[in-house]
Amino acid sequence: MKLFRLLVLVFPALAFGADFSKDVAPIFERACQSCHHAGTSTPMSLVTYNDARPWAKSIKERVALRDMPPWHLDKTVGIRHYKNDRSLTDAEIATIVKWVDAGAPEGNKADLPAPLTFTADNVWYIGKPDLLARTDKDFKMYAKGPDWWIDQYGDIALTEDRWIKAMEVKPSNPKVVHHAVLYAIEPDAPAGTPETGIQLTEFAVGKYGDIFNENTGRLLKKGTRLRYDMHYFAIGSEQSNYMTVAFQFYPKGVVPKYQVRSIPIRNFPNDELEIPPNSVVRTDGYYRLTRNARIDAFQPHMHMRGKGMTLEAIKLDNTTEILSSVDHFDFNWHINYIYADDVSPLLPAGTVLHMIGVHDNTAANKRNPDPSAWVGFGERSVDDMVQVWINVVYLDDAEFKQALEARKPKLVTRSGI
Ligand code: HEC
Repeated sequence: MKLFRLLVLVFPALAFGADFSKDVAPIFERACQSCHHAGTSTPMSLVTYNDARPWAKSIKERVALRDMPPWHLDKTVGIRHYKNDRSLTDAEIATIVKWVDAGAPEGNKADLPAPLTFTADNVWYIGKPDLLARTDKDFKMYAKGPDWWIDQYGDIALTEDRWIKAMEVKPSNPKVVHHAVLYAIEPDAPAGTPETGIQLTEFAVGKYGDIFNENTGRLLKKGTRLRYDMHYFAIGSEQSNYMTVAFQFYPKGVVPKYQVRSIPIRNFPNDELEIPPNSVVRTDGYYRLTRNARIDAFQPHMHMRGKGMTLEAIKLDNTTEILSSVDHFDFNWHINYIYADDVSPLLPAGTVLHMIGVHDNTAANKRNPDPSAWVGFGERSVDDMVQVWINVVYLDDAEFKQALEARKPKLVTRSGI
């Protein structure tokens, strides 16, 4: 009995049943509607009861598997707090499952939360841009056929180097764009930088640009060419699309104190990857921090056989700590997991970052197009990759010490003592 009461406390829906208006609509507002509303590329709107009802079975399945909302971290290990966390709690999942199992009842309309309003599509979430740049050419997507991955390019009209404060990229026709990843091909990139450029930002439904912390930015160099790594899908009629990127800069002459750098950690020897048929393969990569660092974000990159990726820190005292681990990777989603300010890893120079990638080339991987194929490293999505991008801010010794101090729990004393 006691256990039942406890369960009811945690999962109120267990005792009282769940209906759309009272129990489910608030969850959809928080976690689904930013993507699932009319005019986006999602398969359906989840705004009204009538929108959601026909999808009840599929909703239960996706939510219970933690495929939706897209957030693929193992929540039981590593750092737990992320700025862009849109995942559901166990209690929210239980409520949705309960609702579907009860026949997906509507409940009383009077219980509905106030509806959200969605900003018109021509507004930039980062605010008024200082500079816009777009792809050279429009892309024509056929009416029918498989998804299409293709690179598009564009220039930026910059007469001098500028520091980015915020940026946002978006398609003219979101109905056919699954996602787009934007890369900067710099005119004078240091040796070792991939020719395909360094990652700047991306578009995916539900992503609203990147706004850097105060006094923190990224340098955009004059002469940079942009590569848009596009994923299109067909919707039954021919469509065209171009991409636009909006930048907000620090004022001319202002150099933010902290520079965000995007560092890829890949496997060693570089890019040697072999995934035999019907096998699960683990690959390791290492990166030694030569300076004190704060890690702001973590983004795994693999292709269709990608299953999991873990980033851990091998510390100076030879202990190892898991920072983040994705345990149900989905190639359709390029998620940048952004650490909350009070838990972003602070790692002294000499710390070794360790990436562990797992590829599943068996039939158990539902995204695997062909478990009998040998798969190696390559750009095509039927080839594979293993790398993690981390956003790093370097700190000098004084800044590092200060950042560590600020994290220490404050001593609570009674007044007057
Ligand atoms: C970041 C954007 C985003 C968020 C947030 C999101 N979805 Fe989705 N959802 C998508 C996209 C895009 C697809 C289609 C591609 C796919 O299946 O991955 C999709 C597909 C689905 C499907 C499969 C529909 C089908 O074809 O059967 C269901 C069900 C679903 N979402 C439910 C939800 C629910 C419920 C939530 C909130 C708890 C949610 N989604 C949150 C973007 C999102």
